[in-house]
Amino acid sequence: MRKAVSLILAGSMVFALASCAKTSESAEPLKSHPEAFTEASVQYEKPKAGLDYFVLVNKTNKLPDDWEEILETVTVINSVGDTVEVEKQTYDAYLLLKEDLEKNDGIYLELDSGRRTVAEQQDIMDRFIEKYGADYAAKTVAQPGYSEHHTGLAIDLYFKLKDDDGNFTDVYYNEDMVQYPEIWEKIHAKLADYGFILRYLEEREHITGYGYEPWHLRYIGIVDTAKEIMAQDITLEEYLGVVKSIPVTVELGESGLYTTEELSDAIVQIKCKFAYWEGCELHAIRYAGDDANNKENLAWLNSLNEGSDYKELMKFVIDFHTPADAADNWEPDHEYTDYEFWLVRNEKGGWDIISYGKG
Ligand code: DAL
Ligand code: ZN
Repeated sequence: MRKAVSLILAGSMVFALASCAKTSESAEPLKSHPEAFTEASVQYEKPKAGLDYFVLVNKTNKLPDDWEEILETVTVINSVGDTVEVEKQTYDAYLLLKEDLEKNDGIYLELDSGRRTVAEQQDIMDRFIEKYGADYAAKTVAQPGYSEHHTGLAIDLYFKLKDDDGNFTDVYYNEDMVQYPEIWEKIHAKLADYGFILRYLEEREHITGYGYEPWHLRYIGIVDTAKEIMAQDITLEEYLGVVKSIPVTVELGESGLYTTEELSDAIVQIKCKFAYWEGCELHAIRYAGDDANNKENLAWLNSLNEGSDYKELMKFVIDFHTPADAADNWEPDHEYTDYEFWLVRNEKGGWDIISYGKG
């Protein structure tokens, strides 16, 4: 018998969008300044020339066509010998952040990744699928053309640990980096001072479409705005008003089969999938209970994929609302309740969504 869990988590906090609109300028060179926001649309004035440091590139918004013509970058070599290219102003801000953390916190930052071409992103996607499987790759790596890394304004960090003899060890791989929450906390506390925000937050996977990435920073160039975004713990999408900040209720209920960690992992998968449903608002996710893990349901899920031999499943239900202009088979402006998600344990021990739909 595994750990039984019983808890209710409130996901995102509620934020009034109007309160996100306030920005004030810093003394830094500014090329873009969002001036007014309204619900569900980006209303700020884009700069007439130069980079738009608030550009939104995500699962459903591609890199603007003319971006590369105006992008100016610098190229550096990191401690493992890789070449990393970063937008110029972003790199200057990164150097100041790095210096501050080294001097005051004894944390030694390195750049793992900066600007990527579409071909480079495809390469990363292919490597991640091979190493971690398609579902982990989907919640960790953007589709080529839809990565914020194409902008040059996003950087992935890693860090070096210094031992008592002054020797450094690289902490480089995702699975190793997440073992140091206390280091990330110190790094994150200083991001906004240099115009950076954390882009892929915990519990906001239904908005960003990606799992928590403590290492992925986004430069927005205005210190006060970065401070506001970080203080409110919101995503760029929420700040820009393209999605509403609404609470998501997560109910894990009781399970004698699965740990909280396993159930939470499955929820991240569902939320990442949900992020593609444009205009839909997620309200609740509930674990449907251990009884769903029966022979009949396993036989049904195995019948969906020829040759499969799934041995464990999880069923969740979600409540969500469709937009007024919902396309395809969605009923517009409609609250779907108890909409089913079926997941199975994959060979790497994680959870894959095999089927979803109305019950
Ligand atoms: N890791 C982020 C989502 C990217 O690949 O752009
Ligand atoms: Zn990244």
